[in-house]
Amino acid sequence: MNSDLKLRIAELKERKNAIILAHNYQLSEVQLVADILGDSLELAMASAKTDADLIVFAGVDFMAETAAILNPDKKVVIPDPGARCPMAAQLPPDVIREARKKHEGAAVVLYVNTLAEAKAESDVICTSANSPQIVNALEEDTVLFGPDKNLAWFAQRRSDKKIIPIPENGYCYVHKMFTAADIALLKERYPDAEVLVHPECDPEVQQLATHVCSTSQMLLRTKASPAKRFIIATEIGLVERMRRENPSREFIPALNTAVCREMKRHTLEKVYRALKDEEHVVKVPEPIAERARASIKRMLELTGKAVQD
Ligand code: 13P
Ligand code: SF4
Repeated sequence: MNSDLKLRIAELKERKNAIILAHNYQLSEVQLVADILGDSLELAMASAKTDADLIVFAGVDFMAETAAILNPDKKVVIPDPGARCPMAAQLPPDVIREARKKHEGAAVVLYVNTLAEAKAESDVICTSANSPQIVNALEEDTVLFGPDKNLAWFAQRRSDKKIIPIPENGYCYVHKMFTAADIALLKERYPDAEVLVHPECDPEVQQLATHVCSTSQMLLRTKASPAKRFIIATEIGLVERMRRENPSREFIPALNTAVCREMKRHTLEKVYRALKDEEHVVKVPEPIAERARASIKRMLELTGKAVQD
């Protein structure tokens, strides 16, 4: 059944000049048909340079919106429109405008996990792969940063600037599930393992890590490291990819129940239907898209510069 669907997906992709972009948290069946599988930054970079006519985005709302903002002349479809990141909804644009009034002269750096209307109010976007570089590249000494308070803490530890989280308590319900006690127990049980933690986890969890980084940076680390075992504190979909791409190493999920329900809404069947019917088009009104695009492009430029430096 799956092999038949995979064949039909391949045919449709070819005929329609389509591309499938998928996030590392997708179900394995979706990961396996992706042209680009990656973290938020890699997917934004891939969207910025694709020449496909149709983009099927297997990720959550803010990721598909980012692709649509960067490709106003292309069609971007999302297999299940209910795939909405709850964290992205935690920062409405009026909260940003209020914070700007209160902290005159501060820069606004927003996590890519925000909706287009919020991005339109920002100066620059960042992802979990580049937040300290983006913050440190700015001229301003004070930075309003949202919505993830834990990512703000992570960036603050790597910057001399004053970082103010907006809203006060933005969070991801999946990464909130990891506790320092669970990680400490696993470290005791597997003392030879490297501990890789996502910066959306609480500070006490981050402090127990060997490395704190984005999902694709974790994957790279497992390929480059001499370690044979890794304790992984992020959504379970990434562990599936790690096992597939690196079968000789052992991957221990810090929590088997760390599942992002929204990411898992896309199935292979829905990806096929998205390609075939081109329904659930993601479109951002141009006045908002134009402002959001400037902030996303600024991130891409600063990231390119950081890579060159
Ligand atoms: P990455 O950009 O590290 O893949 O993270 C995306 C995300 O939504 C984490 O919850
Ligand atoms: Fe949003 Fe958390 Fe799911 Fe990432 S894991 S998409 S931040 S709810």
